[in-house]
Amino acid sequence: MPSLAVIGHPVAHSRSPDMQTAALAELGLAGEWTYGALDIAPEDFEAEVAVLAAEGDYAGVNITVPHKEAALTMADEASEGARAIGAANTLSFREGRIVADNTDAGGLLRSLPHPFIGDRVLVFGAGGAARAAIWALADVGAQVDVWNRTAGRAEAVAAELGARAVVDPEPGDYALIVNTTAVGLAGEDTFEALPLSPDSFVTGQTVLDMVYTEEPSALLAAAEAAGATVVDGLEMLVQQGALSLRIWTGEEPSIEAMRTAVRRD
Ligand code: ATR
Repeated sequence: MPSLAVIGHPVAHSRSPDMQTAALAELGLAGEWTYGALDIAPEDFEAEVAVLAAEGDYAGVNITVPHKEAALTMADEASEGARAIGAANTLSFREGRIVADNTDAGGLLRSLPHPFIGDRVLVFGAGGAARAAIWALADVGAQVDVWNRTAGRAEAVAAELGARAVVDPEPGDYALIVNTTAVGLAGEDTFEALPLSPDSFVTGQTVLDMVYTEEPSALLAAAEAAGATVVDGLEMLVQQGALSLRIWTGEEPSIEAMRTAVRRD
């Protein structure tokens, strides 16, 4: 019976077991596959994953912060996206070999209403989540601008991933705005921390906030009020999880079943 699990930060992974278990049930694989959460201390990460890969019980694992870079480093093989992003959120164990993928990138694209090929898009942030977003959007041919609180980090990541760093963006100029920063989670004022005001948004624009909170974030509430299409972090969680499950099982999971599970509280 192949096992699957998520390893990482409790907040980041709290919803994954329910979501993946619902998807496995819908695929008729619940008797065969299990998906749980593994609590591994950061200092033990590589040693414990190496044991899982060698043992043969596990088909793979999802990886959240803070282990995504280490997950890529320890892999024997990696997808082009995982290598370019510099992080992996999905490891597959194949006859003792560790194969790394990054489904955050594809998950982001699948959570959007359309592909934004050739469109101007704006990404806030320059950390790991931003790297996945910038790589994915640049890869489909969007023109990606990057703004970050620490401007030098935006310049470095933009230069590396084929985007452009911006200091004073005009939000209304973009077809898509993606927030990859944690602004909005820790109580800071979104419209102080990011180069936006509540009336920056325009009808027809899409706004994705990777933060997942129970209530719509201040960013998404303002965007929706302005007539923008909004996408939240839970939709991205579902889409990246579905891509991971497809890699492991070869089956196309039910997005609807995963959405229902993730939003049940
Ligand atoms: P992750 O891997 O989740 O992207 P990270 O690498 O720690 O996490 O990156 C966090 C991102 O959120 C960074 O872009 C950070 O900006 P800095 O590079 O200037 O630190 C951004 N961030 C975090 N808190 C922020 C805040 N209060 N205001 C603006 N940006 C913030």
